Amino acid sequence: MAKVSIIHNRSKALEEACAVLASGELVALPTETVYGLAGDATNGEAVARIFETKGRPRFNPLICHMAGIDMAQRHVVFNELARKLAETFWPGPLTLVLSKRMDSSVHPLASAGLETLAVRTPAGFANELIDRFGKPLAAPSANRSGKVSPSRADHVEADLGDRVGLILDAGPATVGVESTIVKVDGDEISLLRPGGLEADSIESVAERSLIRPAWGEAAIEAPGMLRSHYAPVARLRMNASSIEPGEVLIGFGGGSVEGVEHASRVFNLSPYADMVEAAANLFDTILQADRVGAGMIAVAPIPETGLGEAINDRLRRASAPRNT
Ligand code: TXA
Ligand code: MG
Repeated sequence: MAKVSIIHNRSKALEEACAVLASGELVALPTETVYGLAGDATNGEAVARIFETKGRPRFNPLICHMAGIDMAQRHVVFNELARKLAETFWPGPLTLVLSKRMDSSVHPLASAGLETLAVRTPAGFANELIDRFGKPLAAPSANRSGKVSPSRADHVEADLGDRVGLILDAGPATVGVESTIVKVDGDEISLLRPGGLEADSIESVAERSLIRPAWGEAAIEAPGMLRSHYAPVARLRMNASSIEPGEVLIGFGGGSVEGVEHASRVFNLSPYADMVEAAANLFDTILQADRVGAGMIAVAPIPETGLGEAINDRLRRASAPRNT
């Protein structure tokens, strides 16, 4: 069961939360928008645990929470417009989707393998925690997939109390709805999700109108769109029990695959069939397998349980037929 800890002594709470995060475990914490389920964004297994805990059937990208612009600019590229928005509205309920820096230490699972990264600087306790921890925190809303976002610690306890070790309680979230998500692309700003910061305020600071994609938040989750981002150059086939000469094998667990001696390269998502480890290794392994330059990547069967559902979803997208 979760330990629900009301924040009386801030420095003690910060210390306790930092210790949990440093061990790769998760903390449910207050932000001004909603309560978040936070993990070390640079630790792939911590990020995998976020998806596992929420029971998300897919690896959609997570918002990475930063202590401020200084920390954020180590992970994303700010142009003048993005900087102006961040300087005006941070800390606060504005998330910016910007180009991820090649040298960012944020784990690829947190950005779902995309070249962009969603960043925001929250206010209050979360801000102090990130500053003290010294690394960005990946944090979706602290609810099970498909449930509403929690604005109070007892909502988190009711929904995730049996799945998360520490819930920090700082009373009701002041904003109560999620952050507004804006993508900045050169001179253009697009509203990906309306939220706690009014679009009008953003437009008046940016001195331009927000582009509003007709499908709103669905844009990023539309399978077609993700598919194009996700597709490796090589073709990919799933549930491979045997290997043709020259194929790259992505294995899972210790099972044997017929013809493996003829593979051009062999990877393993998790030799001991640990789903958290497999999820953490997934994006990087696909990338590395693709770099081998083989025509086909064969992936061993992965059970459809727990995180396996999201792993297989990702693999299905990569293996979907496409026009080239
Ligand atoms: O207020 C909030 O934003 C809360 C608190 C905890 O900070 N967090 C939150 O996270 O609502 P989450 O994971 O529930 O929603 C994140 C949204 C998702 O819809 C995701 O698709 C979008 O952000 N997103 C993340 N990275 C993106 C990217 N690179 N491009 C486009 N959309 C992105
Ligand atoms: Mg959510």
